[in-house]
Amino acid sequence: MSVAEKSLWHKLLDGKVSRRMVIQSAIAAGVAGSLKVAEAQGAAQSGDVNANNGAPAASVGNRAQLRPPFSTVETNFNDDLTLPVGYDYQVLAPWGELINERGDTVGYNHDFVGYFPIDLLEGGSSSADALLTINQEYPNALFVGGNVDNATDPKQVEAEMKAVGVSVVRVRRGGNAWEVVMDPRNRRIDATTECELTGPVRGKEVVGGATVVKGSVGNCSGGQTPWGTLLTCEENVDGYTETWGEASDYDATHQGWITEIDPFDASARPKKRTAMGRFRHENAAVTLAADGRVVVYMGDDMRDACVYKFVSKGSYNPDDRAANMDLLVEGDLYVADFSSGAWLLLDYDRNQDLKDAVDEETGASVVRSQAQVLADARTAALAIGGTPVDRPEDIEIHPRTGEVYVALTNNSDHGNYYGQIVKLRESADDWAAASFHWEIFAVGGPQSGFSSPDNLVFDPHGNLWMVTDSGTGEDSIYEFLGNNSMFFFPTEGPDVGKAFRFAVGPNEAEMTGPVWTPDGKTLFLSIQHPGEDSESLDALTSNFAAKEGTNVPRPTLVAISGFPGWGADV
Ligand code: FEO
Ligand code: CA
Ligand code: CA
Repeated sequence: MSVAEKSLWHKLLDGKVSRRMVIQSAIAAGVAGSLKVAEAQGAAQSGDVNANNGAPAASVGNRAQLRPPFSTVETNFNDDLTLPVGYDYQVLAPWGELINERGDTVGYNHDFVGYFPIDLLEGGSSSADALLTINQEYPNALFVGGNVDNATDPKQVEAEMKAVGVSVVRVRRGGNAWEVVMDPRNRRIDATTECELTGPVRGKEVVGGATVVKGSVGNCSGGQTPWGTLLTCEENVDGYTETWGEASDYDATHQGWITEIDPFDASARPKKRTAMGRFRHENAAVTLAADGRVVVYMGDDMRDACVYKFVSKGSYNPDDRAANMDLLVEGDLYVADFSSGAWLLLDYDRNQDLKDAVDEETGASVVRSQAQVLADARTAALAIGGTPVDRPEDIEIHPRTGEVYVALTNNSDHGNYYGQIVKLRESADDWAAASFHWEIFAVGGPQSGFSSPDNLVFDPHGNLWMVTDSGTGEDSIYEFLGNNSMFFFPTEGPDVGKAFRFAVGPNEAEMTGPVWTPDGKTLFLSIQHPGEDSESLDALTSNFAAKEGTNVPRPTLVAISGFPGWGADV
């Protein structure tokens, strides 16, 4: 497609950009009109605000804090994590670290991090002791297995299958330092772990009749539920058919779902939630509607793919964790139509448009059952008018206004190299609503200083923090960005939508999975794929987080200190 040929999405964006000043005043006005959503959220979550990708956050009242609590850092191409003066980082749970007495080790390429206070199930919110869940998105043949010449070598495949999935790791703060604690709940879910398919697609032909499947892969971003489970999102799952197919019984139809994992029970089998559809799941932004139904916003990270919303059939019961464990088995899946601001129902029996949808060339039905709709949600969604947008990556919900922020990374097919962040607001401030309106929040590019927005996280004051996933390097169109960076954006006040640089990552790395302790004093952040373009162990492009005595870069968490905490005035 030529750049001149504008997609529907770009025509819609054009209509919004010209109204930029109007948008800014609408944002300011929106805060005042937000109480209904904020109150609903407060009621559902016992007064705590919902920040940190669903992780608990200590309450800060209804106070905005409009300035960043740091002095911005300059862009650079250094092979280090650059932080503002007064901030420091500690390498924690790097790839390969031992996590339990069975000999399990932390996987490769850290992404989403879930923070589960160790006392969460007793109503606590410890900021010094927690189970972390770390998504391990994908392997790197050079660093994992070492065989770069034969991707299908069984030993190579085995090493890669063990390096992906999710790591559950207990960590504790002693003094100023965090450490991994050997805990019986520490475990690895990898590409060989038995997982159960639940919901409408379980046992159906579209998954080869399977009810139990092997592994969880492509674990990108995710979310946390109010009942203390992880939702891990299976994003890029197709490529393994070729590389792992012969050496394993890898089946891509068993991947590409949202999988729910209980970090508090090492014997609990991960559950794939087929009612939430199968696509390139990037993220899961979880909240509760006023009536207690669970609402999850999700993006399909692909050029010209859609934004989705799932609404559970049942309602959350704060006193019945066992019942909550089945809430995501059944519910309604919707796709966003940004041209009309409507959520379109992806239910074969209740939406005639799905029955009427035919392939333009062949005249054949696009889908013939609800199992087909869910197993290839993208095809069904596009067939009924879901709006193809520019790679929806993370989605997060503003803790004070209830607005839903969507990071659209970029889409070179339509000349959008830098991406943008848009925000939508549900009708009547009801997350279960059938319609919404939306605006642009920030636009990437040399003038705004950021590019390719990926993971988002709000602090409880309502400020947005964002990490980039950009091509990097000197002499590229992304040179202005430097290495991938982390930014802070006020969402109200005079600097609304303005990007303040908080951190710059090491060479070729992407920072992912930001999450704070509930007191706001430690930020955990993943450093993913440092040195990923290294051609051999003799030509490494990064040495970030190398083990003592070696120079091989390691994906890792870092624990960043220096934050004043949510209660502090800055
Ligand atoms: Fe795994 Fe779309 O980032
Ligand atoms: Ca991502
Ligand atoms: Ca990404």
